[in-house]
Amino acid sequence: MGAASFGGLRANPAKLVARIEHFYAPPKESAALARGDRGGGVVSLRAGLVGLGAMGRHHARILSELDGVDFVGVVEPEGEPGRAARGVPVLRELPELVALGIDYAVVACPTALHEEIGLQLADEGICALIEKPLAHSVPAAARLVAAFEGAGLVAGVGHIERYNPALQSLRGRLEAGALGEVFQVVTRRQGPFPHRVSDVGVVKDLATHDIDLTGWVTGQEYASVSARTVSKSGRLHEDMVAVVGQLADGTMVNHLVNWLSPLKERSTVVTGERGCFVADTLTADLTFYANGARDTEWEALRAFRGVSEGDMIRYAIPKREPLLVEHERFRDAVRGSGTGASASASGGSGASGGSGASGDGDGDRYGYGDGDGGIVPLRQGLRTVEVSLIVLESAERGVTMEVRPPREGRGPGEHVGHCGHGEGVVHVG
Ligand SMILES: NC(=O)c1ccc[n+]([C@@H]2O[C@H](COP(=O)([O-])OP(=O)(O)OC[C@H]3O[C@@H](n4cnc5c(N)ncnc54)[C@H](O)[C@@H]3O)[C@@H](O)[C@H]2O)c1
Repeated sequence: MGAASFGGLRANPAKLVARIEHFYAPPKESAALARGDRGGGVVSLRAGLVGLGAMGRHHARILSELDGVDFVGVVEPEGEPGRAARGVPVLRELPELVALGIDYAVVACPTALHEEIGLQLADEGICALIEKPLAHSVPAAARLVAAFEGAGLVAGVGHIERYNPALQSLRGRLEAGALGEVFQVVTRRQGPFPHRVSDVGVVKDLATHDIDLTGWVTGQEYASVSARTVSKSGRLHEDMVAVVGQLADGTMVNHLVNWLSPLKERSTVVTGERGCFVADTLTADLTFYANGARDTEWEALRAFRGVSEGDMIRYAIPKREPLLVEHERFRDAVRGSGTGASASASGGSGASGGSGASGDGDGDRYGYGDGDGGIVPLRQGLRTVEVSLIVLESAERGVTMEVRPPREGRGPGEHVGHCGHGEGVVHVG
């Protein structure tokens, strides 16, 4: 490894030596291993929480009831709102939580702080479930990937839609070929303005759900995006976005996402050869509208050459709370890896052994394969941040942007947009 790979450290030999020593040091022993749990699974994992805001209090509720986990403390500089901490100590700073000895932390502070908090956790040898989006910028997300992979720690992103029963069922049905060829994915995610979010706009805060779920449900990468945004609420960032895109296999994509609607909507519609699926992730309902199979005898309709209406089925699917399932998967991933210490340093999610909770091996470091029962690897979180930034760039420049496919050998965070001047398509990089 050449000195150049350590970037600006060349000028500072002491820092370089410290970095090399850190690189070759054995992984820190996790809290559970230090307590003597060598695989028997008898010792509960110790978990902490960072951030006790709108999302953090849901994490606190789940952590306080999660089997096999002791919820030991929460970091919240503003103190405890109500009884949100569920009886655990509320601490001012991360080192106080680390001092309690934790196996993993859930990071639910503002997005702009994910990098800082995540890097400290990785440095302490602590696994992390980081809320979506992974970070506010591509370099920040890339540094998180590098830190957790480099330390061989289990880390995941809280892309909660992947645990929604409607989308899980949809994904399974698409994989089984229920639609035949998929033509189009349309998502709508609109609702009132959340006064809490101020560090990022609606693309990073909300549209990242749509970007992640579209890639995951179809198993396809984005190939191009064209977006327009508006900012009507007088804030720094955009509060409404419309995206038209295309996936690698040609599937059309459309996302309408905003904070400017009194109507709350979370809808994913996938249309294909045999009909369309409608997933409502607010109610966790999945409905299939089949194309009509029989010829109509009504003369007036015979001329129509498109599809006709067929049966409609609303599936009775078991509805478990997505956040609980997300936590169970992450707990199992940490457990399966020997609580972090033996996680693969290159596999992103790491948790390839034990429970098989992740399933994303080296062959799928970036891709959207598997993941049904697993955690969302940081590299996929990075990919979602990359696409969301290309959406913003497209809106800013008013052009269609090509999204370069992820590939082995490219450093995490290297620009994947592409800029050239073909038929209105701009490639950046
Ligand atoms: N998965 C989802 O569906 C979902 C939903 C909402 C929010 N989120 C994500 O969760 C994160 C938090 O969002 P939110 O809506 O809860 O925001 P919020 O503003 O309501 O809460 C953030 C909390 O973090 C605290 N905080 C600030 N600095 C901190 C620090 N240094 N250490 C610890 N805590 C600190 C704040 O005081 C606040 O209480 C964001 O990344 C957001 O994108 C995810």
